[in-house]
Amino acid sequence: MSRFYITTPIYYVNDEAHLGHAYTTTMADVLTRYHRLYGYETFFLTGTDEHGQKAQQAADKKGMPVQDYVESVAPRFQDLWKKMNISNDDFVRTTEPRHTKVVQDVLQRIYEAGLIYSDSYEGFYEVSDERFLTDKEMEEKGYTKDSPEVVFLQEKNYFFKMSQYQDWLIQHIEANPNFIRPEGRRREILGFLKQPLGDLCISRPKSRMSWGIDLPFDTDYVCYVWFDALLNYISVLLDKGGDEELNKWWPESHHLIGKDILMVHAVYWPTMLKAAGYEPPKSLIAHGWWLIDSAKMSKSKGNVIKPLELMDRYGIDAFKYFLVRDMSLGLDSNFSEKAMVERMNSDLANDFGNLLNRTHKLLVKSFDGVVPEPGAGGELEAELKALGEKTLATVKEHVLEFKLHAALEEVLQLVRRANKYMEQTEPWKLAKTDLNAMGTVLWHVLEIFRLAATLLSPVIPGKVENLLTQLGLDQNNLELRWGALPPGTRAGEAQVLFPRHEYKEVTDMENTETKPEQTAVAEAPKAEATAESKPEAQAAGQPEAAEAEPDNLIGIEDFAKVQLRVAEVLEAERVPKTDKLLRLIVSLGDEKRQIVAGVAAYYEPEQLIGKQIVVVANLKPVKLRGIESHGMLLAAKSEGKLSVMTPLGEVATGAAIS
Ligand code: MSP
Repeated sequence: MSRFYITTPIYYVNDEAHLGHAYTTTMADVLTRYHRLYGYETFFLTGTDEHGQKAQQAADKKGMPVQDYVESVAPRFQDLWKKMNISNDDFVRTTEPRHTKVVQDVLQRIYEAGLIYSDSYEGFYEVSDERFLTDKEMEEKGYTKDSPEVVFLQEKNYFFKMSQYQDWLIQHIEANPNFIRPEGRRREILGFLKQPLGDLCISRPKSRMSWGIDLPFDTDYVCYVWFDALLNYISVLLDKGGDEELNKWWPESHHLIGKDILMVHAVYWPTMLKAAGYEPPKSLIAHGWWLIDSAKMSKSKGNVIKPLELMDRYGIDAFKYFLVRDMSLGLDSNFSEKAMVERMNSDLANDFGNLLNRTHKLLVKSFDGVVPEPGAGGELEAELKALGEKTLATVKEHVLEFKLHAALEEVLQLVRRANKYMEQTEPWKLAKTDLNAMGTVLWHVLEIFRLAATLLSPVIPGKVENLLTQLGLDQNNLELRWGALPPGTRAGEAQVLFPRHEYKEVTDMENTETKPEQTAVAEAPKAEATAESKPEAQAAGQPEAAEAEPDNLIGIEDFAKVQLRVAEVLEAERVPKTDKLLRLIVSLGDEKRQIVAGVAAYYEPEQLIGKQIVVVANLKPVKLRGIESHGMLLAAKSEGKLSVMTPLGEVATGAAIS
């Protein structure tokens, strides 16, 4: 039986899971599910990277022992994957004995083979990145010896003789064109390897940083966090069944990673494995980054996208569909909620959902809900069959090349062709004139649905289960061949699988006059809107729209999403060519922000300078009159007057309001 072993990077625990983490994990999950569908035996591993300075510093900040800290935060990732219906087979934590044991074994083995030596080293050490910088890097980063980002260190350390594997590694990459994907990234690594490769410092003295795995041959040191982390990909297998288990999976191992950590995976990791007597993994797939307004997500910019919030709003499967569909392998992609809503509406609600609802309705009306026997059909039907078969083959090709976005596009093309076929054949008219011909049309459309649903099942597994029920089929009927829809099957109840979503322009008091240039806030679907856009579904027995009416009470967890903070106004000036807006620079204690506020008709700029105000700190930035506004101030309006909110007592600037 063919096998497929896939891993995600193990995530640092000092950070909350964000869109980037959700993306990689979703991709790995979808790839695993496709391989299962194609009959592969699969193993899917993810986990958390819990050692090193980042975890240590995060624990210090919380005033907690680091072990307690990692215990408290690691489950966050496990919980999220459960909520996202991620089907990983194992979850590894680098603090688990099953992992630390393997790390120590490998270190000892390489040490005994003479591949690790000690040397004293001096140089500038970058604290945030946990590594020594070369003179060139110091210059590139604009650091001097007095920069707070670096410390000058002189210490003895242990080094892995990575340099001796350089030629072997180049040969390996050249001989295996699929080792690094996509091709552009492979060339990047080959370019990097044109420079002489140094040896790798793999230790950290405990006197400086003790949160790590002890070096077995010198317990004054812990292992460098990357050396420890990379080994997760084999430690779980070795612990499970020794070399036999490793040999079972390793020849079919694929690491899905972000482009930022490719170098470590393409250079450190294969040489480490080689030194320990193992082969490199089969392939590395480096994906691009999700950007927000073409910039990186960062806490300080306040533009971090939280997957849970999106899933709560739009549903797990629709969210995952968007992630997989809208990023081409290897390229960066701009995230916007507007694009996400548009994608869900066009592909899922319109192309996919509406067609099923239309067909289902006709099936119930003219065939009592029973799938008819198709007639021989003509040219159109032969074309559909050929397209169905071609789609099956092409989707598989794309999946095996990790090009999931292209696979989904193929499926949607098939669905769109079925929509066109309905328009060409007008089965609702045939109801009165030729029931046999109508039956042939419906069978073909339903068969395309069955195929499309099968091919989408790895991406939207929850919804597909539902969809198959509507067709009277079950999960076991995921047959990957044209023609497997059995006539005589009785269809189940119709349901709306993917409601249309609406997004609303920002309409807070701050931009009554101007139009926000980019941001749109998505809303839960309004009951009326859903009903309007889905008349067929209503008729076919969809639950009454009123049931979906949102309750206007919110829970404390909803309120907790809004970060209100006390800010001090440092600067204020009028925005030219408008009499409503002021541009404010405010301090939040630890950072400065620019906010554009619609209060100019009520306040002179000077009246606000030096005042403490209340701001929503985690609002997505918007541009007002071309000026970025990063936050919103709170004010109350009554009888035509407006009053900016301010704290009653003395309070530190930046304080959180709850
Ligand atoms: N702990 C290391 C990985 C060790 S693997 C042996 C690490 N962790 S991380 O939590 O910082 O990042 C994990 C992954 O998230 C990386 O692959 C990174 O590329 C990815 N992403 C982080 N932000 C991202 C986006 N904005 N978009 C897509 N993925 C990005 O690195």
